[in-house]
Amino acid sequence: MSSTYDQVYARSLEDPEGFWAEAAEDIHWTKKWDRVLDSSNPPFYRWFVGGEMNTCYNAVDRHVENGRADQVALIYDSPVTDTVKTFTYAELKDKVARCAGMLRNVGVEKGDRVILYMPMVPQAAVAMLACARLGAVHSVVFGGFASNELATRIDDAKPKAIVTASCGIEPGRVVEYMPLLNGAIDLAEHKPDAVVVLQREMCEAPLKPGRDHDWKEAFNAAEPVDCVPVAATDPLYILYTSGTTGVPKGVVRDNGGHAVVLKWSMKNIYGIDPGEAYWAASDVGWVVGHSYIVYAPLLHGATSILYEGKPVGTPDPGAFWRVISQHNVKALFTAPTAFRAIKREDPEAEFLKKYDMSGFTTLFLAGERADPDTIMWAEKHLGTPVIDHWWQTETGWPIAADCMGLGALPIKYGSPTKAVPGWDVQILDEGGNQVARNETGAIAIKLPLPPGTLPTLWHNDEGFKTSYMSQFPGYYATGDAGYMDDDDYIFVMSRTDDIINVAGHRLSTGGMEEILAGHPDVAECAVIGVHDALKGQLPIGFVVLKAGVARAEGDIVRELIALVREKIGPVAAFKTAVVVQRLPKTRSGKILRGTMRKIADGEEYRMPATIDDPVILDEVTVALQDVGYAQD
Ligand code: COA
Ligand code: AMP
Repeated sequence: MSSTYDQVYARSLEDPEGFWAEAAEDIHWTKKWDRVLDSSNPPFYRWFVGGEMNTCYNAVDRHVENGRADQVALIYDSPVTDTVKTFTYAELKDKVARCAGMLRNVGVEKGDRVILYMPMVPQAAVAMLACARLGAVHSVVFGGFASNELATRIDDAKPKAIVTASCGIEPGRVVEYMPLLNGAIDLAEHKPDAVVVLQREMCEAPLKPGRDHDWKEAFNAAEPVDCVPVAATDPLYILYTSGTTGVPKGVVRDNGGHAVVLKWSMKNIYGIDPGEAYWAASDVGWVVGHSYIVYAPLLHGATSILYEGKPVGTPDPGAFWRVISQHNVKALFTAPTAFRAIKREDPEAEFLKKYDMSGFTTLFLAGERADPDTIMWAEKHLGTPVIDHWWQTETGWPIAADCMGLGALPIKYGSPTKAVPGWDVQILDEGGNQVARNETGAIAIKLPLPPGTLPTLWHNDEGFKTSYMSQFPGYYATGDAGYMDDDDYIFVMSRTDDIINVAGHRLSTGGMEEILAGHPDVAECAVIGVHDALKGQLPIGFVVLKAGVARAEGDIVRELIALVREKIGPVAAFKTAVVVQRLPKTRSGKILRGTMRKIADGEEYRMPATIDDPVILDEVTVALQDVGYAQD
C-alpha cells in the first residue's frame, strides 16, 4: 500500500475541525456537539462542545447491541497466578453495569472521584469502565507506588471512594496493598467515605468495619445500572504523572475528544480492525494502560489482553511469544526495556522457535527512546516491522509514529518517524523561534492540541499554564528536546527538565532529591539519571553530609535507599547513593548535573567554564568509580 500519510496529515492541519468531526462520526453521541472546537479562551481549548455521550457505552454496550455480544472483549492472562480468563462483550457489560451499581451503592455519583489502587486484574478495567458508566472520574494509581505517593493523590483528587485489592503479585513476593492504602489514608487530610476491597486468594486483607466493603459481597448485592450521558468536555479520568518536583501533576482527560481519537488511532496508527486481538503489555496505572489496554481497543470493538506478568521470569523469556501465539495477537505495544530484558536472557531468541507467531504483524515500542540495537534485534527475530512511537501521559496518544493504517513510511533508526495527523510539531530555540532542520531544540506543539490531549490539570489551571503553555506562548512545551531532519522525521533525544525514564516509568529526580534532603544527616544532595543497559536510565544520588556527622557512610546510604523506597515505592529503583564532600557547582551555585551524568556514563565532557572548583569533579569521579560507574 502506498502511503496516504502526507495527504491525511496535511488535511488534519488545514482543517482540524472538519477532520475530527468526520472521525467523531464513529462515536455514538446522545447529543451532537454544537461546536467542534471552542478556541475562545486560549490556551484552554475544548473539543466537541455541547456534545453528550458516554465512554463506557461506546466501549462496551454499543458492541453488544451491534453484533459483538459473543466476541471476546478482554483476555486476562496471568502467568503469576496461572490463570487465563476471557470475557465476551456481553459478559463485560454485565460486570461493568453491576460494578457501577456497587459504586453507586457506596455513594459514587456523576462527577465524584474514585481512586483505583489495583494490580493487573480484570476488575481494574471493570472498575475504570464502571466509573465512566456513572460519569464518575477515576484516578488509577500504579501499584508500585508507596503510601506517601498515594496520599498526595488522595489529597488532590479527594475521592469519594477507593477501590483496591488485597495484594499485587511481583515475581517472588506478594505485595500487600492494605497496609499501603491504610498508611496513605492516615497520611492524607482527605478521607474517602468508602473503600472496596477485592480479596485475592494469595492474601486476605482485614477490613475496617464501616469503611471497607468486600468486593464480592458488594458486587453480588448490586443491581446493574445504565450509562449516564456526560458532556464531551466532562472529565473521564485524572492520571497523576511526575513533574519537576515531588508533587505530581493531575493530567485531566475529557470524554468526547478522547473517545474520538482513540477509536481513530486503532486503525490509522496501529492498523487494527475490530475483532482483532491487540496487546499493550503495560500496566493500567500508566497512560499506556489507560489508552491501549482499556479504552482504545474496546472503543474499536477489538479484543484486548490484560497481562499480569513480566517479559522474563514468568516463567521464561518466551512469555511474550506464548501470549501472542495463544491469543493470536496481531500487534504488541510495549516499552523497549521489556525487549532488552528478553534479549539479555535469550540473545538468540531460542524461545521464539517454540511458538506459532504467524498472526503477528507489528511491534510498537514507546515510553522511552528506542535504541537502534533493540529495534534491530526485534526486527531480525520477529521478521515484522518494529515501530518506535513517541508520546506522553499528557498527550494520551501518539504525537509521532509510523502510522500503519496510512501505509508505512521508511524507517529511520532512532526516530519515531513523523508527526501523527493532528500534531503540528516544531523545534524551537530558547526564544521560541524555529531552529533549522537537523538542529536540536525544544520540541513544542503548535496550539490547539488535537482532541484527547490534556485540557488542563486537575483543579489547577495556573499550573497547566506555567508547566506547559507559558514557555513558548502559542505552543505546548513537551519537555522533550530533539530535532527534525530534512524529511520531517522527528528525533526525540532527551528531556529538558529533571524527569528520568527508568524501565519505561517516568520519575522525577527533583522528587527524589526532596526525600534525600529530608534525611537528618544530609546537608545537600543531587540525583541524576545515568545510563543503564536494561532499564534505560537509573537514578544515582549524591549527598553531602552535615558538618560533624560521624556515623558510618554505609549506614546513611542504606537509610537513604530505604527512604526513597518507602516514600516513592520500589518502582523508583533507587539503589545507589554516594557521599561526597561537595557537589560540583557553577560560580552562581547551579549544580552541574549534566557534567556529573557525563562522568557517570563515561562520556567525554568539557570542563564548564563557570565551574566553581574543578577539583570536585575528580572527587565525584572517584566516588562513582567506587560504585561501578565512570568507567572509560
Ligand atoms: N507493584 C509493586 N511493586 C512493583 C510493581 C507493582 N505493580 N511494579 C514493579 N514493582 C517493583 C518491582 O518488583 C521491583 O522491585 P524490587 O526493587 O524489589 O526488585 C521494582 O518495583 C522495580 O521494578 P521494575 O522497574 O519493573 O524492574 P524489574 O527489575 O522488576 O523488571 C523489566 C525489569 C524490564 C522486566 C520491567 O521493568 C518491565 O517489564 N518493564 C516494562 C515497562 C512497562 O511496561 N512500561 C510501561 C510503559 S509502556
Ligand atoms: P510518560 O508520560 O510516562 O509516557 O513519559 C513520557 C516521556 O517518555 C516523554 O516525554 C519522553 O521523554 C519519553 N518517551 C516516550 N516515548 C518515547 C520515544 N518513543 N522516544 C523517546 N522518548 C520517549
